[in-house]
Amino acid sequence: MSEVVKPPVPDLSTTGGSLYLQRFTVAYEYPVTFTERLFSADNPILHDTVARLERNRRHRCIVFVDDGLCAVRPTLTDEIEAYANAHAAAIELVMAPVKVPGGEKIKNELFHIEWMQGLIQEHRIDRHSFVIAVGGGAVLDAVGLVAATSHRGIRLIRVPTTVLSQNDSGVGVKNSVNLKGAKNFVGTFAPPFAVLNDLTFIDDLPAREKIAGMAEAVKVALIRDAHFFRWLEQSIDALSLFERPAMSFMIRRCAELHLRQIACGGDPFESGSARPLDFGHWAAHKIESLTRNHVRHGEAVAIGIALDTRYSVLAGLLAPGFEDRVAALLELLGFRLWHPVLEARAADAHDYPTPGHRARRRGARDG
Ligand SMILES: NC(=O)c1ccc[n+]([C@@H]2O[C@H](COP(=O)([O-])OP(=O)(O)OC[C@H]3O[C@@H](n4cnc5c(N)ncnc54)[C@H](O)[C@@H]3O)[C@@H](O)[C@H]2O)c1
Ligand SMILES: [Zn+2]
Repeated sequence: MSEVVKPPVPDLSTTGGSLYLQRFTVAYEYPVTFTERLFSADNPILHDTVARLERNRRHRCIVFVDDGLCAVRPTLTDEIEAYANAHAAAIELVMAPVKVPGGEKIKNELFHIEWMQGLIQEHRIDRHSFVIAVGGGAVLDAVGLVAATSHRGIRLIRVPTTVLSQNDSGVGVKNSVNLKGAKNFVGTFAPPFAVLNDLTFIDDLPAREKIAGMAEAVKVALIRDAHFFRWLEQSIDALSLFERPAMSFMIRRCAELHLRQIACGGDPFESGSARPLDFGHWAAHKIESLTRNHVRHGEAVAIGIALDTRYSVLAGLLAPGFEDRVAALLELLGFRLWHPVLEARAADAHDYPTPGHRARRRGARDG
C-alpha cells in the first residue's frame, strides 16, 4: 500500500516547508518454528524455509556458527554440510560453515563485522541468497547486523541456540554490536526471514546460561501475563532442574509473548519511549558494561527487574510486598540479585544511601 498525500497537514508549502508527505506501509512476516534435530537430514524444516518463496531455485547460503557451540558439539559443522548435501537441490553452501567468536567478544570489536561482510562479498551472497546464523544472542546480533547492512539487507535465517536467544532475542527485530563499551550502540531494526528454534541445543548449555535466559521469561510475564508469572512460581522445582517439558514450555510461552508484543504492541521498531520489553534493562545494560560482561545479559536483567519492581512499588504502581515476591522467584531460579558494581559511584555523583544499602555495607564491614 502506498500513497502520496498533497498537501501535507499542516500545509508548510507557503513557508518553504514540505510539499508532499510520503507515506507507505511495509508488511513484515516471518515464520518462527520449534523443532528438534534441525540439521538431521530427515528434518525438512530448513529446506522448506529456504525454498519458501522460490521452490525451484537453488539458493546460495553462507552459515556462521557460534564457536562456543562448536566446542560442545564438534560435529555440528559436518552435520550442517551433510544437511546441505542431502538437500542440494535447494541449498548451496558457498563455503564450509564459518566459525565465529561466541559471546560478547563478537559484539565488542567492529572488525568481526567487516570480516563477515567481506566473506559475503567474496562469495557473491546477494539479496536472493541466505545468511544463516547459528548461535547465542550475541552471535545472532552480530550476524544480524552483517546481514542487514550487506547489500542493504540479505535474507537472514536465525537458529538461536541458547535459552535467551530462543525465548527472546532470536524472535525479535533487532540486531546490534557494542561501540567502545556502549552496549548495542551500532545496530538496525531488521526482521529476519525465519527463526528456527531447535530445543536440543539447550541440552548442551552450561547451567549458568540456562538460568540466565530465564530472566527474560520473568520480565515478559511481569509485563504481559500474570498467569505465566504464577506458572513460573509453581514450576520452580522443574525449572531449576532444567526439566525438558518445563524448559520447553517456558521458552515457547516467552517467545510467544515477545512475538505478540512486537506485532501488537503498536511500536515494533521502538520509536516511542515506553518500550515495555526493556523492563529491567536500563540497569542491566549498565551492569553489563561496568562489569565488562562478566555479568551475563540475563543475570544483569534479573538485577534490573528486582530494581524496577522496587521502584514500581515506591512509585505506587505495585502493591508493597510484590517486589519481594519477584525477588524470591528470581533467587529460587538461581539468580543473585546483588553485585559489588552496584556500589560503584561516579566521582561527581551524589550518594543517597538507603537503609538496605547501609545494612549491606555494615554487613560487609562486619563480615
Ligand atoms: N537483539 C535483541 O533483541 C536482544 C535481546 C536480548 C538480548 N540480546 C543480546 O543477546 C546477548 C546474550 O545472548 P545469550 O544469552 O544467548 O548469550 P551469548 O550469545 O553471549 O552466549 C553465551 C555463551 O554460550 C555459548 N553457546 C551458545 N549456544 C550454546 C549451546 N547450545 N551450548 C553451549 N554453549 C553455547 C556461546 O558461545 C557463549 O559463550 C547479549 O549481547 C544481549 O545484548 C539481544
Ligand atoms: Zn534482554
